[in-house]
Amino acid sequence: MTSVVTGMVGGGFYDRNSAPQWAAADLPLTWLESALAERSFKDTAPAVGVADFGCSEGRNSLAAMRRVIGALRTRSDRPVQTLFVDLPTNDFGRLFAALRPDGRSAFDDPAVYSAAVGGDMFDPLLPQNSVHVATTFNSVGYLSRRPVERLSNHVIANGPFLPDAKDSVSDAEHAIFMHQIRDDMRRFYRARAAELVPGGQLLMQCFGAKDGLWACDCTYDVLNDALLEAVDMGIIDRDTYERYYSAVYYRTVEQLTELVSGPDAELGALFRLDRAEGYEVPMPFEEDFKRTGDATTYARASVNYFRAFTEAMMRRALSGHRSLDRLIDHAFTRVEQAMKDDPERLRIRFISIAALLTRRDQT
Ligand SMILES: C[S@@+](CC[C@H](N)C(=O)[O-])C[C@H]1O[C@@H](n2cnc3c(N)ncnc32)[C@H](O)[C@@H]1O
Repeated sequence: MTSVVTGMVGGGFYDRNSAPQWAAADLPLTWLESALAERSFKDTAPAVGVADFGCSEGRNSLAAMRRVIGALRTRSDRPVQTLFVDLPTNDFGRLFAALRPDGRSAFDDPAVYSAAVGGDMFDPLLPQNSVHVATTFNSVGYLSRRPVERLSNHVIANGPFLPDAKDSVSDAEHAIFMHQIRDDMRRFYRARAAELVPGGQLLMQCFGAKDGLWACDCTYDVLNDALLEAVDMGIIDRDTYERYYSAVYYRTVEQLTELVSGPDAELGALFRLDRAEGYEVPMPFEEDFKRTGDATTYARASVNYFRAFTEAMMRRALSGHRSLDRLIDHAFTRVEQAMKDDPERLRIRFISIAALLTRRDQT
């Protein structure tokens, strides 16, 4: 099945504009560190396997891996095999360079061996019983496929957010996305359950939703307005607008864990749910804005952050369109201008969801 993304904007753009994603990973990593501090690694596998799903260009993924290895090393000095997984179209070049700077392991540990895997994380990708710790950060919110051909009146199925937004997503359209996110989670859990050893941890963190708020909620409304304006200006036609939407869904923590939580959970025999939480992550550039009041810098940083994970998907969805560059320029320039004009109302928010699970004995 063809995936809906080709990776993020490459060439280091994602690495440079993903500090908020790293901030969001901090809390769940502390849960994993505590769990690993209690764990024994006494099986006979040749190495302790640690896999990160959705590694992108690697900066945040390597930083997370460093913390996992640090915690592991308090319990075991066995060789560690780290695996970095992303779509085959991801910019792996930077990841490989980061993994062995100066010909030495980036983890400063000669017993850590690293490899990368290009594949769809909703499929099984690694040998059965070979992974001791699996992680994923800011990635499971990407849908495995486009569930509808067109979303007629908004750019994202979570939308609209602002009370004065003109457009809407119908109940029928929304129901199709609900089915899709459940199906994606089922595939993800099953694939990881096959790869993990009994007692192995699965840590999942992703951008999400909580209490009616979701990550980048009003930003998508502004993007939607910008695209409608592009229709009015003749840059794209209405049909192109309707066919484009962001194949991401901002789930709640309940939607992330429903298949494994509670006595009758469908996949409760595979995983024990240890901990789950939804939380808001402070945005580094918002803190700067509060201090300096510089709306221009704030709007630029916010849009670069938003762009780092939306532009590649937009280019893929609209590839071949004759005015693609003009459209992308128009859209993100408009979003930046709107945020600069009204930074308080169009606050870019980061709601994160996370869960720590343990693989039950083989079933
Ligand atoms: C926003 S980035 C997150 C990168 C990093 N984990 C972090 O937290 O900063 C999302 C990554 O998930 C990857 N991704 C999306 N769908 C995927 C899939 N089906 N299989 C593997 N990777 C996928 C994208 O290619 C992208 O590199």
